Formats: sequence, C-alpha cells, structure tokens
Amino acid sequence: MRIGVFGTGVVGQAIGAKLVALGHEVRMGSRSADNESAATWAGEAGPQASRGTFADAAGFGELLFNCTAGLASLDVLRTAGAENLAGKVVVDVSNALDFSQGAPPTVGLGNADSVGEQLQREFPEARVVKTLNTVNCEVMVDPSLVPGEHDMFVCGNDESAKADVRSLLESFGWPANHIFDLGDITSARAVEMYLALWLRLWGVAQSPHFNIRLVS
Ligand SMILES: NC(=O)c1ccc[n+]([C@@H]2O[C@H](COP(=O)([O-])OP(=O)(O)OC[C@H]3O[C@@H](n4cnc5c(N)ncnc54)[C@H](OP(=O)(O)O)[C@@H]3O)[C@@H](O)[C@H]2O)c1
Repeated sequence: MRIGVFGTGVVGQAIGAKLVALGHEVRMGSRSADNESAATWAGEAGPQASRGTFADAAGFGELLFNCTAGLASLDVLRTAGAENLAGKVVVDVSNALDFSQGAPPTVGLGNADSVGEQLQREFPEARVVKTLNTVNCEVMVDPSLVPGEHDMFVCGNDESAKADVRSLLESFGWPANHIFDLGDITSARAVEMYLALWLRLWGVAQSPHFNIRLVS
C-alpha cells in the first residue's frame, strides 16, 4: 500500500521504517521538501521510501499517518490539503504536548477537546483513527520490547477505518486480543490526557519501554 507519513521526528521515522520493512511504499512529509531528517531517513530506508511536503505525502498516500507535534497537527493537515485527505484513513498518533513552560511538558488540550477531534472536525471527509500515542515510538512498532501482555487502544467514528487500523497494528506485532476499541473519536481526549500519567510513569520505569494492561 502507498502510505503518507506526516512528520520527520523520531515517530515519523520509526513508523516510516516499519511500514517500509512491511513492504509498503512510504512518503514522508514535512514543511519543506528538502527537510534534512526526511532526506536522511529516505536515503537509509531504501527505494520504497521517498520524501516531500505534507501535501506531497498526503497526495501520495492511500492511508496517512499524523506523526507531527500535536499542537501543530491541525495546521499540518490544513497544509496537506482537504482534497488530499478526503475518504482516507488518517492514523493520528500525536500528543498535544505543550513545552512552552519548559520540561516536563503539560497536556495542551484537556477534558473538552483533543487533537483527534480537532482533525476529524476540520476534515469531516477524512476517517481519523487515534491510536499508538500511549506508547513510546519504538514500542509502537515493536510491542515485544515490553515483556508480557499489554494493551493498545483505538478510537474513531468510522468502523471500517478502525478495522483497517487494527490490521495494520497486528502487522506491527500487536495481538488482536490486546487492541481495545474505546469508541468514537471523543475517546481521543482520554488517551491524550493519559500522557500526564505516562510522563510520570517514565520517571518510575526509568525506561520508555513500558505500557499498561487492562485487568478486570
Ligand atoms: N516520541 C515518542 O516516542 C512519542 C510517542 C507517542 C506519541 N508521540 C507524539 O508523536 C508526534 C511526533 O513526535 P516526534 O517526537 O517524532 O516529533 P515532534 O518533534 O513532536 O514533531 C515533529 C514534526 O512536527 C512538525 N511540526 C512541528 N512544529 C510545527 C509547526 N509549528 N507547524 C507545522 N509543523 C510542525 C515538524 O515539521 P518539519 O518536518 O517541517 O520540521 C515535524 O514533522 C508528537 O505529537 C508526539 O507527542 C511521540
């Protein structure tokens, strides 16, 4: 499949590399077509990898990943162009981290909204699915880095989009019985606010390779 990845940071690179390893064609998007990180990534990832602007990546992909800074993601998708998003699954892995007051960051959107909802509201023809934002990017693409059984969440308004994303997650190594559907895109608030706890657990675990498991 042709997949567009918005984002040149560690997340875009990890997801892009995994998708290429799985046999997909991937175009990484950035604000500028000559972004150095994207050039390095594409050079290392091989002939299935390419780079361009956010709009280039959006036009290229049959499915899209948003791996950009959460508080900038709405602007990124505007730049990508509504016509390039219409009808496509947009997998949103972003977090709305606010570093304006230094570290540790705060969660910049709260109870009443989320990045996932912002994107779905502004682009009603896109099929936004929120997932993967609750784990470190290395764990996103290799859940076996965390020992034992642990869980991933999906949410979104479009059932068939969620089914497509579940299949993709399974190809990343997430067991089907550990992928929980939280419901519609308003559930993005919950998984985005979880970052406040994730940041504290990171300090406790002394490693970013951890996750949570639902026990009931
Ligand atoms: N690090 C992790 O393990 C992890 C885990 C879960 C979720 N996340 C989330 O995944 C996302 C990506 O994280 P990251 O650390 O790889 O990268 P990041 O530094 O959060 O974001 C980098 C991307 O955001 C774009 N960007 C930043 N500010 C922008 C602005 N003002 N306007 C337009 N675009 C802007 C950059 O564009 P350019 O390419 O043009 O510079 C770049 O592509 C974030 O939302 C993060 O919270 C990260």
